[in-house]
Amino acid sequence: MNINKLIKMKGKEKIVMITAYDTPSAKIAEKAGVDIILVGDSLGNNVLGYSNTIPVTMEEMLIHLRAVRRGAPNSFIVADMPFLSYGHSEEEAIKNAGLFLKNGANAVKLEGGKIFGPLIKKMISIGIPVMGHLGLTPQSINVFGGYKVQGKSRISKEYLIENAIELEKNGIFSLVLEMVTEEVAKEISEKLAIPTIGIGAGRYCDGQVLVFHDIVGLNPDFQPKFSKQYANTFKVMLEAIENYKNDVKNEKFPTEDNIFRGDQ
Ligand code: KIV
Repeated sequence: MNINKLIKMKGKEKIVMITAYDTPSAKIAEKAGVDIILVGDSLGNNVLGYSNTIPVTMEEMLIHLRAVRRGAPNSFIVADMPFLSYGHSEEEAIKNAGLFLKNGANAVKLEGGKIFGPLIKKMISIGIPVMGHLGLTPQSINVFGGYKVQGKSRISKEYLIENAIELEKNGIFSLVLEMVTEEVAKEISEKLAIPTIGIGAGRYCDGQVLVFHDIVGLNPDFQPKFSKQYANTFKVMLEAIENYKNDVKNEKFPTEDNIFRGDQ
C-alpha cells in the first residue's frame, strides 16, 4: 500500500483502517489485510490507562510505533502526532514527524484545521505524507467541553467543509472525520478528491477506522455508539486467567506434560 493506491481507492473500494499499539495487535491487523494501521494517540486511553489522549508523549508513541512496525513489517502505518508535538513550533513539529518516519511510519496524522496548512505543506515538501483529522478532535477536548458530535449547527458545518477543502489544498492525502453528522461527512466526501475515513461519521465516508480494543471487546466498561464489537476478548482472557489460577491453586498445573526431567 502507498498513498497513491489509497487515493485511487476512492469511489472504488472502501478503505479499512484500524488502530494498533503493539506487536501482537499489529500482527493480527496485518494478517487480516487491513489497508492502514494507525498508531493512534488513543494509545493513551486504550493501553496506558490515561483518561484521554492529552498526556501521551512522543517517547511513548515512538516505543509503540516501533512495536507495531515489528509486528506489521509490510503494512502502511500512520503515526498520530500527540498533543504539543506539533502545535507550538514548526521546527519541533517537523523534527517529531520526521522521527516517526525514521521509526517505521509511512505517514503522520495530525488533528486540526487550516491553521496547520503551512506546516502541512512544509512537511509534505520534505517528504512526510500527512493525513488530516477534523470533527471531534480528542486533543481539543478541553475546548469542545466534551465528546460532542460535530457538524450539527450551521457554523460547525461550514467550519468543517471549509477546513476540509483547505486541508486538501494543502496536500493531505486523506482525512479522518470523527463524530461528524452523516450528512456533513457525506458532503465533505463528495467535495474532496482525496478519501475521507470516518469514525462515527456515517456510511458515506470513503473508509472507516475503528479502535482495535473496541472491535475485539477489550474495553468492558465502554462501547461507543459508532463502534461495533466483533468479539468479547475481555471475557475470553478473563476466563483463561481464572482457569490458570484455579489450576495452580488445585494443583492441576503443571502436569506431567509441562515438566523437564534430568534424563530427557
Ligand atoms: O488515536 C486514534 O485512535 C484516532 C482515531 C480515532 C482516528 O485518532
